[in-house]
Amino acid sequence: ATNQVSISIDASRPGPVISKNVYGQFAEQLGTGIYGGMWVGTKSNIPNTRGWRNDVVGALKALHVPLVRWPGGCFADTYHWRDGVGPQDKRPSNISDGRVEEINAVGTHEFFDLIDMLGADAYINGNVGTGSVQEMADWVEYMTADGGSPLARLRARNGHAKPFKVAYFGIGNELWGCGGNLKPDYYANLYSNYENFLRAPGNSRPKMIASGGSGFDTAWTDVLSKELKGRTVGISVHQYTIAGTTWEGKGKDLGFKEDEWISTLANTLKMDQLIKDHVAVLDKHDPEKKIGLMIDEWGTWYDEAGARSALYQQNSLRDALVAALNFHIFHAHAERVPMTTIAQMVNVLQAMILTDNEKMVLTPTYYTFQMYVPFQDARSLPLAIKDNTSYTLGATTIPGVSASASLAKDGKVYLALVNTDPHKAVDVAVDVAGAKVNAAAGKVLTSAAMDAHNTFQNPQVIKPAAFSARAAGGKLSIKVPAKAVMVVALEE
Ligand code: AHR
Repeated sequence: ATNQVSISIDASRPGPVISKNVYGQFAEQLGTGIYGGMWVGTKSNIPNTRGWRNDVVGALKALHVPLVRWPGGCFADTYHWRDGVGPQDKRPSNISDGRVEEINAVGTHEFFDLIDMLGADAYINGNVGTGSVQEMADWVEYMTADGGSPLARLRARNGHAKPFKVAYFGIGNELWGCGGNLKPDYYANLYSNYENFLRAPGNSRPKMIASGGSGFDTAWTDVLSKELKGRTVGISVHQYTIAGTTWEGKGKDLGFKEDEWISTLANTLKMDQLIKDHVAVLDKHDPEKKIGLMIDEWGTWYDEAGARSALYQQNSLRDALVAALNFHIFHAHAERVPMTTIAQMVNVLQAMILTDNEKMVLTPTYYTFQMYVPFQDARSLPLAIKDNTSYTLGATTIPGVSASASLAKDGKVYLALVNTDPHKAVDVAVDVAGAKVNAAAGKVLTSAAMDAHNTFQNPQVIKPAAFSARAAGGKLSIKVPAKAVMVVALEE
């Protein structure tokens, strides 16, 4: 038997816009995240455009990626931008942050070429850790100056006469850890010093982002929102989802049991409380809501296994649910969360795409991002869930159904649903105040196994299927399969 859950959406009272940048992505120079996974160079046999893989770029285009954060991460705080401009064969190679040799084939110009092909905006992260105010100021000038500047002329000589457009610029990364083990007060002063000297023509000045705390640590948000008023548009927070209870035992990407299914989902749902905690602090110091909470690293992080390390992990149906549950939380906080970037785009942590030489597979997370494209820049809609099911295993209980609704740019009402229960389907009765709906049509992503995933041998194991439902007797009821993500447009 299935349970009956009721969802009421109020289309007559649209709420804040869900910025498209909530669907941003993070691409770090780490492992095969860029080299091999996206960049193969012009001499490769793998079909490419100026070095970027055609298959990967083509697949990413379908996600309408709005924003890409680059080059790190921890990598950012050891990156020297001058190593990555000028003729490629003259660029130095260095061991950048001890994790991988950096050949500097991908630098500023190559990155902007990628995001131009994707139609995405740039979120560049600068080096506080091992850089200097001068080096960072020069990079910002190099990218944004529109003439009359030696660095603009150098950029032109390197092949790009017109300035690059930098939407966001991050001043350092994880300063509490890999970025330098600093204290928030000290960083607040450092930030002011850096920000003061980052010069760009008025209309192309990037929005500056301060690097905040880890997870539930609101001390950084407290200090930075008090000290940096008017100097930052956002404070970043990083929060990863693990299956286990400790960082040493994060859990496996595949082959897990149901206890790690529910623990992963329960852990990821903590994102809601995390945002509330940080927002409470922001509300205290920034009631005008000028400072956003930028969750510029989130997603699953499992134990490294096998020959491919450097944060390579497989990606299963469980990751699809993690992504969708986080989207619903971000939508609910649209007013304070104007941007997030999932970690990461390709071959690293919760990736959209995995590659192995010339082969490529799309992950369940990829398909989730694709299904949610209509939520980009949509107006969020108030939604109430009645008689929700719950899903319990051992001492853990989480809500059975998670839902989010929006009024999209195409004028349609979209409803996204997650059923966390791996065993039971659920019937959801939907009514919409302020709009007539008699049908639902869209996509559902599910599979028989909790860890269903695509491999290079079997790349089509899990992908979205078409879904539709029609009202009967004036009632629209949607049956959501067990362990599924669904996005439907509600139609007359
Ligand atoms: O995303 C991987 C790493 O996680 C990033 O480099 C760092 O910022 C975080 O600790």
